[in-house]
Amino acid sequence: MVSNNIVLVGFMGSGKSSIGRILARRLGYRFVDTDRKIIEREGMEISEIFALHGEDYFRERETDVLRTLLGRDQCVIATGGGIVLREHNRSLLRELGFVVGLTADQEVIFERVSRNTTRPLLKTPNPRQTIQEMLAARGALYAAAAQFTVDTSLLTHDEVAECILTQASQVFSWPNTP
Ligand code: S3P
Repeated sequence: MVSNNIVLVGFMGSGKSSIGRILARRLGYRFVDTDRKIIEREGMEISEIFALHGEDYFRERETDVLRTLLGRDQCVIATGGGIVLREHNRSLLRELGFVVGLTADQEVIFERVSRNTTRPLLKTPNPRQTIQEMLAARGALYAAAAQFTVDTSLLTHDEVAECILTQASQVFSWPNTP
């Protein structure tokens, strides 16, 4: 393993950003959110990037951000839900550190993402069905990218973080769980 970062992958609403912040605080690591980085670099919201430049352009920017993170240590990196779509990204994720997949039941995801309407790919006539289709298309990619997976459906964010820290302690041979 090249770096000692923790990288979170998973579908929209799986809790990557919230749990990533908790992990970073517990570890004293820097928190990095790839979506945030793209928003800062492009000077506009994700929905605007999609509307103006299209999804392929956004996917390119995700790869750019992962490349800029190579060589960094002690980061918790929360990624956008589609980062696993590109094979090249999946290998970059591995280079960046310990890749943790977060999953959640379809209904739980629907409930969580319904609270926030900023995600361009879910602005469809039937978001529930869109989620179902996207989960079916991406499930295997998340599983392939992740070295360890936690189902967050019935857990609090703190409980998920605890679970990840226990696992990371073993992977990185930390003497104590932070
Ligand atoms: C996307 C997920 C979003 C964001 C963009 C595309 C996806 O991130 O990158 O809207 O393709 O699943 P979150 O997973 O943080 O919502």
